[in-house]
Amino acid sequence: MIREILKFGDPLLRQKCAEVTEFDRELGILLDDMYDTMLKADGIGLAAPQVGVLKRVIVIDTGDSGRIELINPIIMSMWGSQYEPEGCLSCVGKRGIVKRPMHVRLKAQNRFGKPIKLHGKALLARAFCHETDHLNGILYEDKVIEWVEEDDK
Ligand code: CO
Repeated sequence: MIREILKFGDPLLRQKCAEVTEFDRELGILLDDMYDTMLKADGIGLAAPQVGVLKRVIVIDTGDSGRIELINPIIMSMWGSQYEPEGCLSCVGKRGIVKRPMHVRLKAQNRFGKPIKLHGKALLARAFCHETDHLNGILYEDKVIEWVEEDDK
């Protein structure tokens, strides 16, 4: 089911999300809905608070990465840096340059509660940081160094 994506300005996007403790059918439905909602909106990442659910749940698919589901993610280490334009499905039509690490290692759980470890580089590292920030009520606009002019749309 496609869910409504909340926009910047919605107070729910500024909340700190709660840890997931129940790896049940409801979580699976949330993940499936978030993935469908992200694809329909042409995004590469979506965090649960963006659909109004204040839980530590993320879906990512950069294309190259395939479908990634992160429950209770914790960034373990990051190194290097990159400066690239970044956008957000909660703020369509705007992009800004944000400094992010080039590499991110994180641990999380999958939809069944099993521990997983992932390494992201470049765009995937960026997505890990952007989406993890959402779980703490942090939005990329807080970190924009310079806004980028969009010449299409
Ligand atoms: Co976002």
